[in-house]
Amino acid sequence: MKIIVTGGAGFIGANFLQLLVPRFRQHDFVNIDNLGYASNLASLEGIDDSANYRFERVDIGDAGAVEETFARHRPDLVVHFAAESHVDRSILGPRAFVRTNIEGTFNLLEAARKHMPAGAGLFHHVSTDEVYGSLGEVGAFTEETRYDPSSPYSASKAASDHLVRAWARTYGLPVKITNCSNNYGPRQFPEKLIPLMVLHALERKALPVYGEGRNTRDWLYVDDHCEAIWTVIERGQVGETYNVGGGFEAHNIEIVRRICSVVAEETGCRQSELTDLITFVGDRPGHDLRYAIDSTKIRRECGWAPRETFESGLRKTIRWYLANRRWVESVRTRDYDGWIERNYGGRGDHLK
Ligand code: NAD
Ligand code: DAU
Repeated sequence: MKIIVTGGAGFIGANFLQLLVPRFRQHDFVNIDNLGYASNLASLEGIDDSANYRFERVDIGDAGAVEETFARHRPDLVVHFAAESHVDRSILGPRAFVRTNIEGTFNLLEAARKHMPAGAGLFHHVSTDEVYGSLGEVGAFTEETRYDPSSPYSASKAASDHLVRAWARTYGLPVKITNCSNNYGPRQFPEKLIPLMVLHALERKALPVYGEGRNTRDWLYVDDHCEAIWTVIERGQVGETYNVGGGFEAHNIEIVRRICSVVAEETGCRQSELTDLITFVGDRPGHDLRYAIDSTKIRRECGWAPRETFESGLRKTIRWYLANRRWVESVRTRDYDGWIERNYGGRGDHLK
């Protein structure tokens, strides 16, 4: 089988390839990525010289390049990860999100319906629970929850989901969609909550918690997400959507305290030295209060369940960042300090 993976130099795509390239030597994996700021080819070390893997630099916003790539490879399966993925960046600069997440998905769908085998093949779209908007204190998102996205990022992902379903209904493209909760794990760009807090704790920098830290996310270890995607590809129904979540919910402030505790244990410092760095800063505009996933459907129909607990996954993640400082330095280029200044500079320190 020929498999095109989009965005495979980013966090989840690279972890997906790290798991599947060695497992399926009989399949050919083509990783297409434009090597944007969040990507790192070092995330593919260990598989990048495999005979069943190749990398091609392609911008999915470039319709001609996507068309040419699909014409050449004629994939049986497309696993679509490529996206602008950070909510705060979408607030400060939404245009790239419309171009990559909406137009890029459109370009891929057009190329897929032209160059994938008719009536066969599969377009697997990797999406997010953020399309459903925010929950109150109780309840969980099911596959029937109404779309109600809050940020430019989640609106662009919602639009991409609608395009994928439209291409299925109108043109008969075989598609599946997974909507997943917050991932954490190795190789995540240090702009997202967990890697940012881990690195700031290690470097004794302020730990910037938005608002009062009472927003809640449902955390899933990245390998569990990757296995869920592969399970849906193998066992899910064509045309269906599956919600994926870890079932581990916690307030952001609780996550940050746990990070301080594990970093203190792993490095032999006092925990209070790290918790003293917690700084409550101005909130994210339109900040969704709570996400929680009801993953009954994927568990029942596909037999998937997460393997990692938050405790074990967080420790693995922190150990990975401690052991991979070279990886960290190689992604904190491309105006990383400029991003930190733009995102956190104007927020203040509102509770001190
Ligand atoms: P990421 O930002 O780490 O990686 C995205 C990758 O896409 C990068 O390698 C980037 O270079 C590439 N890319 C961006 N624009 C591109 C373009 N125009 N052409 C080609 N490649 C491009 O993101 P991630 O966290 O790995 O997320 C992957 C997917 O999973 C996204 O679609 C995201 O919406 C979805 N998702 C993420 C999470 C999460 O918690 N991180 C949860 C649910 C769903
Ligand atoms: O739910 C799935 C989504 O999870 C994915 O679709 C997105 O691609 C991914 O980025 C993630 O979105 P979030 O906005 O939930 O993740 P982030 O790590 O940016 O923030 C998690 C929570 O932590 C959120 O409530 C905002 C808060 N936060 C975040 C940062 C970066 C802080 O309090 N301080 C911070 O510095």
